[in-house]
Formats: sequence, structure tokens, C-alpha cells
Amino acid sequence: MPYKKLIFTTTLLCLSFGSALAQENAQALFASKCASCHVTTPPADFSKLTAPPIMGVMRHVKMHHKSKEAAVAFIVDYTLNPQEEKALCTTDKIKHFGLMPSQRGNVTQEELQRIAGWMYDNFPAASSSKKQCGTQQARQATPSPKAAPSQFLIASGMPHMTKLLMQQWDDSTLALTPDQKKKLLRVRQQTMQAVKRITPRIRGLQKTIIRKTMAGESPNTLEPMVKKLGQLKAQATNVHVQCIHDTKNILTEKQMAYLYR
Ligand code: HEC
Repeated sequence: MPYKKLIFTTTLLCLSFGSALAQENAQALFASKCASCHVTTPPADFSKLTAPPIMGVMRHVKMHHKSKEAAVAFIVDYTLNPQEEKALCTTDKIKHFGLMPSQRGNVTQEELQRIAGWMYDNFPAASSSKKQCGTQQARQATPSPKAAPSQFLIASGMPHMTKLLMQQWDDSTLALTPDQKKKLLRVRQQTMQAVKRITPRIRGLQKTIIRKTMAGESPNTLEPMVKKLGQLKAQATNVHVQCIHDTKNILTEKQMAYLYR
């Protein structure tokens, strides 16, 4: 029936027009609310930037948040309540640019939902290079045969708690309370600080031992260095164990079971 067909076509047209409008709208919102700091095309001169370009931001968001829903939730939350502990791409970025000022007052939660969805759908562009921010997390996301050996004594079998949690921070089933989040952020901060302190020493020592061994240094000379390496790795492992213990104390049994599902 032509009449039915007409209605059908009109509906389809309206739907696609509607989503095109929403898309344009979100893009305009981004342009007016975010683009003064976040550029959307690779800059010629990185030194003039006041914030990371949006494709870099989205590359990291997608590396940590596998679903669109989780990524959007992270962006909405971070934009209204930026905190160093929540930031995905290490402290280098924050040291360089400073923490993002909260956009509360500049943008509403509803607008942010749309902006974040648009960011997710459009960045990074499929063709863009796979540049990463040089963090450990970034490197771990794409393991290569040459990946640096773990800084822990126990490289598998114990969960990376802070990462697991960050991936599910706003998961509605996990349902972290604000108080739990506050405590968890403190644990995360302590853990990251300790690991960041120890890791460079481990990597440095490891390199030296490798270099000297290959250069024919006598085992006797190397022994104290190997011992020291063992101690440092034990220290890092203790931090890991402590982090799991502290996290267990903050979460309920049900939440823990869900996290390990
Ligand atoms: C006044 C400048 C400024 C404006 C405006 C701004 N940002 Fe940012 N933003 C920053 C800076 C600086 C950083 C890097 C430091 C950080 O992560 O806190 C950043 C980082 C981010 C991150 C990355 C967080 C992470 O951990 O990787 C997201 C997501 C983000 N901004 C979203 C937005 C959105 C969405 C808007 C618009 C509603 C916006 N920003 C507006 C300055 C700004």
C-alpha cells in the first residue's frame, strides 16, 4: 500500500534526520564548550596546546573503557569532577597541562552525555596512527614479545585491582557508594605512587644486570645487584598484596564476587 509505504519512508527519514541533527548538535556543543582547549585535528605545534587533543584523549578512554556506556560515564564524570587520581594517562599529562578545570556551570550533565557520545563515535578517527602516551598501562595494552618483564614477583594470578575497578567505576551492578569511591581512590593513589617509585629502579637495575652479564662481568660482582633486584621486586609485590587486601576491606563480598566474575 502506497500510503503505508509513505508513512514508513517518512518515519525513516525523520529518524535519520533526527540522528543527523543530534550529531550536529553534539558537535556544535563540543565546539562551544570544549574546543577552546581540546583541538580536534592534529596540531602543527604541540607546544601551543593547552590540553591534550581530543583523539589522544579518546584513545586512552577507549583503552580503559571497553563499552561505549562506560566510556561516556567516565567522560561525564571526569569533566564535572576532574581529579588526578581518576586521570587515565598518568601524571605526565597533568604535570604538563595542569588538571582540567571542572566544567560544572559551563556544561550540563545532559549536554555532556551527548558530547561524550559524539566524542566516542568520532575519535580517534579509524585512520589515525596508534600513538600512545608512553605509559606502562598503554604498553601493557598491546603486549609484544619484547614487553618488559613484570616488576612483580608474581606476574599472574593476582588481579590488577585498581585497573579492574577503574574499568567498572560507574558500573550500576557494582554500585560503588561515594564513600567507597573516596576510599578506593586513596588506595589507588597510594598503590600507584609506591609502584611508580619502585618500578624505574627495577627496570634500571635489570638493564644494568643484562648489560654487564652480556659484557662478561663476573657472577660474583653481579650477585649483590641480583639480590637487590629481588628485594625491589619483593617490595613491589608487597604493594600489590596490600592493595588487594585494602580493596577487599572496602568492598562487600558481593561486590568482590562481581568484580572477579
Ligand atoms: C579550560 C580548558 C579545558 C576545557 C574548556 C575542557 N578541558 Fe578537558 N582537559 C583539559 C586539560 C588541561 C586536560 C588534561 C589534564 C587532565 O586530564 O585533567 C583535560 C582532559 C580531559 C579528559 C581526559 C581525562 C583523562 O584522564 O584522560 C577528558 C575526557 C576531557 N578533558 C573532556 C572534556 C570535555 C568533554 C570538555 C567540554 C565539556 C572539556 N574537556 C573542556 C582542559 C580543558
